[in-house]
Amino acid sequence: MRLFGIERPPDLCRCTDNSPEDAPLALDKTLEELQLEYVDLYLIHCPVRIKKGGSVEFKPENLVATDISSTWKAMEALYNSGKTRAIGVPRIPPAVDQVECHPFWQQAKLHEFCKSKGVHLSGYSPLASPGWLKNEFLHHPVLVATAEKLGKTTAQVALRWGLQTGHSVLPKSSNESRIKENFDVLNWSIPDHLLVNFPGIEQTKLIRGSEFVHETLSEYTTLDELWDGVII
Ligand code: A2P
Repeated sequence: MRLFGIERPPDLCRCTDNSPEDAPLALDKTLEELQLEYVDLYLIHCPVRIKKGGSVEFKPENLVATDISSTWKAMEALYNSGKTRAIGVPRIPPAVDQVECHPFWQQAKLHEFCKSKGVHLSGYSPLASPGWLKNEFLHHPVLVATAEKLGKTTAQVALRWGLQTGHSVLPKSSNESRIKENFDVLNWSIPDHLLVNFPGIEQTKLIRGSEFVHETLSEYTTLDELWDGVII
């Protein structure tokens, strides 16, 4: 589980725990680290499993066969044990769909779908992950113009756009002043005449997952298969 303001180092990526045996152990470790008896929400990180090991990279040769429905059953057992209050699996209705979501990948159709099913949408990369993906999206002209008019930072504008669009935002930062900056998005809003500029922003899916696709080594042979056809 990702927590506000905390990012796990890459060698602890939870893709390694995507099996029915490992999911309970990973949750126990998280509970121990957080000194808690339960978490509010426990999610599967993504639908692939990566070999264990210190610095295993996301590459097709590091994928391990996985059976998502068995992992889901293990998640249901964790829900029943009380160690997590919500999960994202079929028998128990998904509480949250946590996906890439920011002004540059707005997920309008997914928003509608989740709303119609009563599933909460949560953006795990609401700033378009500038540090990790080394992109310039926080300098986009629509964000810059909006931020200048409102006296806010472009990061705050991106987060506020998310809240006004109706999803929760989980910005990650290891910097105290940026964590404070990211919290300061509740007592103001982007007015409608500026909000109308956001749907026109060119859309780019940043986390494409090509490393999870392989003709023989992965369960997903094309990007279309991995993302259920929702990729451009
Ligand atoms: P840092 O930890 O140095 O603050 P996302 O949540 O979209 O994946 O983005 C996380 C990245 O965004 C991290 O690299 C983080 O770096 C950076 N970041 C977090 N808050 C801000 C901010 N207010 N302005 C600029 N960059 C930020």
